[in-house]
Amino acid sequence: MSLDMLTIPAECVTQSRISELDYNNIEFGKIFSDHMLVVDYKDGAWQTPQIVPYGNMSLSPATSAIHYGQSIFEGMKAYKSADGDILLYRPLDNFKRLNISAERMCMPELPEDIFMQGLEQLLKLDAAWVPPTSGCALYIRPFMFATDDFIGVRPSSSYRFVIFSCPVGAYYGQPLKVAIEPHYVRSAEGGAGYAKAAGNYGAALYPARKMQDRGYHQLIWTDAKEHKYIEESGTMNLMFVIDGKLITPPASTTILKGITRDSVLQLARDMGHTVEERKISVDEIVEAYKAGKLQEAFGTGTAATIAQIATIHYNDTDMELPAIENREISNRVATELDKIKTGELPDPHNWVYRI
Ligand code: COI
Repeated sequence: MSLDMLTIPAECVTQSRISELDYNNIEFGKIFSDHMLVVDYKDGAWQTPQIVPYGNMSLSPATSAIHYGQSIFEGMKAYKSADGDILLYRPLDNFKRLNISAERMCMPELPEDIFMQGLEQLLKLDAAWVPPTSGCALYIRPFMFATDDFIGVRPSSSYRFVIFSCPVGAYYGQPLKVAIEPHYVRSAEGGAGYAKAAGNYGAALYPARKMQDRGYHQLIWTDAKEHKYIEESGTMNLMFVIDGKLITPPASTTILKGITRDSVLQLARDMGHTVEERKISVDEIVEAYKAGKLQEAFGTGTAATIAQIATIHYNDTDMELPAIENREISNRVATELDKIKTGELPDPHNWVYRI
């Protein structure tokens, strides 16, 4: 595309790095596309956005985001259709959630045109980086962080918003063994669990590593008060099929309102399945398992898409779930969702944004 079609000023790379990419062996989050969008907020206003070559940023050691965690992000994906178009999945939902996170973290609202035009122009420039390979996508990472070089604790007065992207394959690549967490918590009522704030992820690393040391890929978070109710798993929302019904904890102030979560629930409803968004206790899971009624368990997320759970550990017992190939609801929803995202099936809910 010619530069005069860009409304955002762009400094383009002289030599693309795309030859570094092996489309048949893409690791998550390691190779980044050629360009990124950068826009600063200062003196109470967003400045002119710019597209520049992907690269390092120079920051003061006193940059406040580094010290006090005013930093939020999003994750979204773009796919290549059979006719070569780029299809972005539900970008406006990511945009809205970014601003929900911004409000919770005392950060300025980002205007929609910066987000959407930035995305469109970046994707046009880096179109070759959207993998045509099945099961792969271009993962897009918008994020905003506080840039005041000041170490007093107060909301920063300046910020930077950036979007970069990286081609990705499967995040987990295998069915998961997860364990119900009886002690640590991700989020409490009144906290920032519903925001996609960097600190939520940092604070989760230690409990997750302890579970990994015991041989589990991830943990299942439980509520902060009693550890009685299921919340999320790692970086994903959680769903169960019990006795033919698809059940998931309600999106609340402690649970991230996942866009994949919403898509899965909608598609399951469209297929005529019973969907329940309600509290689900650890006891209910254990009892359903013992009664042979726990048919499916899986996580949902942008990075993970639909990640099947093979084993759930609780109280010294590994509950082994039915074989993945027999999981009617999640397999069917996963296939349909993939096909909607890549334009192989009609898009009745207008989720796909064609570039
Ligand atoms: C996503 O699904 O986009 C996430 O937020 C997970 C990410 C932290 C890898």
